[in-house]
Order: sequence, then C-alpha cells, then structure tokens
Amino acid sequence: MRRPLRLGVLGSGKGSNFRAIMEEIVGSRLDAEVRIVISDVEDSGILSLARDFQVPGLYVRPGRFRTKLEPEIEEDIARLLLEADVELVVLAGFMRIVKQPLLEAFPRKMINIHPSLLPRFPGLEAWKQALAAGEKVTGCTVHYVDAAVDAGDILGKETVPILSDDTPESLHARIQESEHRLLPAVIAGIAEEFRGAET
Ligand code: GAR
Repeated sequence: MRRPLRLGVLGSGKGSNFRAIMEEIVGSRLDAEVRIVISDVEDSGILSLARDFQVPGLYVRPGRFRTKLEPEIEEDIARLLLEADVELVVLAGFMRIVKQPLLEAFPRKMINIHPSLLPRFPGLEAWKQALAAGEKVTGCTVHYVDAAVDAGDILGKETVPILSDDTPESLHARIQESEHRLLPAVIAGIAEEFRGAET
C-alpha cells in the first residue's frame, strides 16, 4: 500500500495555507500527512492551528537576526524535520530566508508559496508592491527553494485580477484564496511524482 507523502510545514503567521493543506488531507483529496509544523513565532496562528488539527507543532527560537536564522538554529530545524521523517518541506508563510544547512538537508525537497507572479515582486508584502506598481493582474507562485531568494524553479502559478477599488487587504485576501487552491494542488503533483518514482 502506498504511503502518504510526509510533509513538514514551516510558517510564521496565521497559517491559512497550512489550514488549506490540512483540509485537503482531511477530505482525502490530498494523499499526504503533516508530520510536524515548525514556527519561529511562539504565539503564531499556525501553531494554534497545528494544535487544532492535532499535528505536532514546535516553536523554534529565531535567534538574533530578523530576516534569517543562525546556522545552529537551521541545524536544529533540519534535525527536527529529519527526525520526523519528512520527505518534503513546505514553507507556508515562513518569513525568514532559508540558507545552508537547512537547504542542504532538503535539496529540491523544499517548496515555498509566494504572493505574486514571480519573478515579478519578490520580497516582502508582494501584493502591496503589485498594487503600487499599477499592475492589472498579480497572483501567487509555488517554487522550489534554493539559495536565491524567491527565485527557485517554478512549480505552479495562479493569476488574480487587481480591481480598481482594491486595498492591500482586499487584494491579499483574494490572492490567499488562490494560494489555498494552488499550494495543495502542487503538493498533490509532487506526491504523485514521488510515489511514481518508487514503483
Ligand atoms: C501568504 O500570503 C504567503 O504567500 C506569504 O505569507 C502569507 C502567509 O499566510 N509568504 C510570503 O510573503 C513569503 N515571502 P498564511 O500564514 O495565512 O498561510
């Protein structure tokens, strides 16, 4: 019998993408299991959702940097993910840049959801960047994570129109609806690929 794809999810925020993944799993539409959720924010929504879904959730102290993790902390996270037997790491609103040695532990086995049509608007609050640039269309992208920030190979994109009366909040909310479809769909594709390679 084939086993569900074993996921580790990293996030810093409210965790709506994690919830979308869990809803697909619980509804038997995604053949995966979340083995562990790790957050750099102790009181984050994603950790509280992990408790709701009875998935192991761990807070990892972020250390002294604001946008990245200290190498020792990355080593701790890599160890936790490996101990949880994770096959694919999903960055779902993880607001720190991932470097070695975490990348080295999961080469081409780490994906990220970004709220723009990459390569347009990498970085923070991409929906605000798209709005400020006067774009008519934006969206979200799922890509492999590598050493270049928001620039790994693209696995999927979904477009979202920008309306004339959009505020940053209304636009981000619409992008998130699209994220909640795209991310589980990309994970489902990877699950097929992994299991196909095993048979
Ligand atoms: C999502 O919109 C995701 O695309 C974004 O953070 C939000 C997390 O929402 N990620 C980035 O901007 C990464 N550069 P969530 O906590 O509700 O899933």
